[in-house]
Amino acid sequence: MVDILCTLALPDPFPARVFEAATLRVLGHLPTHDELCAELRTHPVDVLCPQFGDRIDGAVLDAASPRLRSVCVYGVGYDNVDVVAATERGVSVGNTPGVLTDATADLTFALLLAAARRIVAGDMTMRSGEFPGWTPDYLLGLELRGSLLGIVGFGRIGQAVARRALAFGMRIGAYDSVGVRVPDDLATRVRVFDDLQSLLAESDVVSLHTPLTESTYHLIDERALRRMKPTSVLVNSSRGPVIDEVALVRALREGWIAACGLDVYEDEPRMAPGLAACRTAVLAPHIGSATVTTRAAMAELTAANALAALAGELPPHCVNPEVRSLSPGQQQSRDQRS
Ligand code: DGY
Repeated sequence: MVDILCTLALPDPFPARVFEAATLRVLGHLPTHDELCAELRTHPVDVLCPQFGDRIDGAVLDAASPRLRSVCVYGVGYDNVDVVAATERGVSVGNTPGVLTDATADLTFALLLAAARRIVAGDMTMRSGEFPGWTPDYLLGLELRGSLLGIVGFGRIGQAVARRALAFGMRIGAYDSVGVRVPDDLATRVRVFDDLQSLLAESDVVSLHTPLTESTYHLIDERALRRMKPTSVLVNSSRGPVIDEVALVRALREGWIAACGLDVYEDEPRMAPGLAACRTAVLAPHIGSATVTTRAAMAELTAANALAALAGELPPHCVNPEVRSLSPGQQQSRDQRS
């Protein structure tokens, strides 16, 4: 029998799908880095299914060597995995693209609406009994119709957010460091920005949909925040470290921007000091893909990735297909081990 290790239990249909082909071990908690290394040394596995909070670096891959064939991430983002180190060791890396696009775009729009229309501040005043009664200038927010939504990172999720925004009468701007490719249905509706600074300066709402890489770490730093309009709203459902969170707290406190909606944080599950006290921040606990349907679809893709790896194939959603180019010697010794 072959083995799969999940750090946390994955929902149905994952267990049923892998049942026939593998023994499944579930830790049931997020291990520390050392714990995970020790676990993999003691109980070697073919496939590791980590969570967003598990850092899979060279040390973990070495601890899992030589048996590990694949790291199958339960999510679309795989910045927690050192893909170069995995490729060097002949380990494929799978993820779950596509199936969480709509759920994440919906959550992004929920944050956008809540931040633009000051729902959290309003909720607080109701619960605390502070609502003084209707007045002409109470909790005024941003009108979406006619406002420019600047989307940073125009992949699947960014495009899905654009489609929702069009239904609200927003204008769409897009910037992507790898170049904006506008799909046919949005062709006449998107203004492409060649530089981020102009998009930040002109947008009424900025929404982040870029992967976390060395070049997007702190992409939204103090300088970027100071470029934005004082009436603008910043939304982030991508990865926390794309924003310098300490600078964001200053931006909210000092009014460089009007509001933000966040689903992700620089040092999850913690937040930068002062962020929780900002009434202009709408704070969600990393629930972009958290619908029953989407989580099941992610489980299905993770199972498909794991089963392919166990069968000696590349996962259908493989982020490092170049791992196929293992030298014949490496491949042979891998096959002998299994
Ligand atoms: C994703 O799919 O990237 C989610 O943020 C969970 O990691």
